[in-house]
Amino acid sequence: MKNNSLKITDNRTGTSYTLPIHNNTINALSLRDIKVNEDDFGLMAYDPGYTNTASCNSTITYVDGEKGVLMYRGYPIEQLAENSTFLEVSYLLINDSLPSKEQSEHWENKVMHHTYIHENLAKLMQTFRYDAHPMGMLIGTIAAMSTLHPDAKEIHNPTSRQKQIWRILGKLPTIAAFAYRRRIGRPYNYPDSSLGYTENLLYMMDYMNQGNYQVDPILAKALDTLLILHADHEQNCSTSVMRNIGSSHADPYSAMAGAAAALYGPLHGGANEAVLRMLTEIANTDNIPHYIDQVKDGKFRLMGFGHRVYKNYDPRARIIKNVADQVLKVTGSTPLLEIALELENIALKDDYFVSRNLYPNVDFYSGIIYQAMGFPVDMFPVLFALGRAPGWLAQWLELIDDQEQKIARPRQIYTGHMNRDYVPINKRK
Ligand code: SDX
Repeated sequence: MKNNSLKITDNRTGTSYTLPIHNNTINALSLRDIKVNEDDFGLMAYDPGYTNTASCNSTITYVDGEKGVLMYRGYPIEQLAENSTFLEVSYLLINDSLPSKEQSEHWENKVMHHTYIHENLAKLMQTFRYDAHPMGMLIGTIAAMSTLHPDAKEIHNPTSRQKQIWRILGKLPTIAAFAYRRRIGRPYNYPDSSLGYTENLLYMMDYMNQGNYQVDPILAKALDTLLILHADHEQNCSTSVMRNIGSSHADPYSAMAGAAAALYGPLHGGANEAVLRMLTEIANTDNIPHYIDQVKDGKFRLMGFGHRVYKNYDPRARIIKNVADQVLKVTGSTPLLEIALELENIALKDDYFVSRNLYPNVDFYSGIIYQAMGFPVDMFPVLFALGRAPGWLAQWLELIDDQEQKIARPRQIYTGHMNRDYVPINKRK
């Protein structure tokens, strides 16, 4: 192998520097050695949005954006979506291996016996306005969990960490369901730990004292697969927030409330809600050319399209499209699917999108399935958060145990005023 290093010449001084290359990166701190004179601060890298900055070493999720590859702990997403369950994938992400039968039973038992939330939280959720967005309720309630579990501050205690993980995975579906029930003005359905993970979520959201109520197994399986597909995605915006807050050694509930807040944005996890609103606004396939023109004029962003990393088809979108077929066989098709399919069909042939590597991402079809299953649009990002929770937790654990990590504190390029003298208010213009 050729000498694994980078030789840089600073033309301001004529001095050359050799920077070692590890894992196809250079250590940013070594740029500080490049100075004009001794009391110079040295160079930094400028990278708004961290488009080309590695913040950590990680063994959790591998994404190849060029090839459209996604693996959790080395297992291809296609195989996990086909063969696994969301709780098993949660175990895999957090423990780096698929569970044995005993480990799986113990894990499921622990999670499903942490589904009740404190009555203080149930009452707190009743104080939200009748039309409060469920994502705002989720964020606020996750943050409030930190006030009920002060032991979560023991972030280096493995027993405490494990307890918080079971609590979060067990209680998030209950909080999500309670937020939904609050939204529709119906009483809470308390969790039933004899049901499966996604079955219990659908039951808590849906049950209205119907006599022989049964969760549709096809819908429960479809939702389970969707949660698997959302479970982790390396250093995305919300995971970076989970790590950043975790780096100050805050408890996992406070970190996760921040991560969920980041996910809420329409450019991130809020995109699935934005896609549905977009498709509804387009209303029929005849209007698509007009919207495509709006995109090209920079007046409209095609929600559910494009990705910071995938410059090919998001492998999750491909799988979700298959799940949509199964769900729509049960629920009946939806006009929005026809608009989505035609929009994709047109966009993938149009140079504007092809030249910018804009393909459907995970959010493009997920909302159509959620809507067909009867979820209101504002519950979509909540479902994304439920799926992403084990990924956030796995990344948080990895951060806490990573000896190379320290509190996240980026630098800046200061471009503001300097040394202005204070002017008393009666002397100001
Ligand atoms: C998720 O990071 C993750 O892994 C996220 C996620 C996860 O699992 O955690 O995968 C989940 O967040 C998926 C993305 C959901 N968001 C959306 O669908 C919103 C619509 N898409 C975007 O706004 C955009 O594509 C981003 C935010 C996803 C990525 O933005 P980038 O990488 O910062 O790209 P960019 O904004 O610099 O765009 C590059 C070019 C620009 O054109 P030019 O200025 O070069 O002419 O592509 C254009 C953009 O205008 N562009 C789009 C577009 N996305 C990018 N044009 C129209 N519609 C779009 N959706």
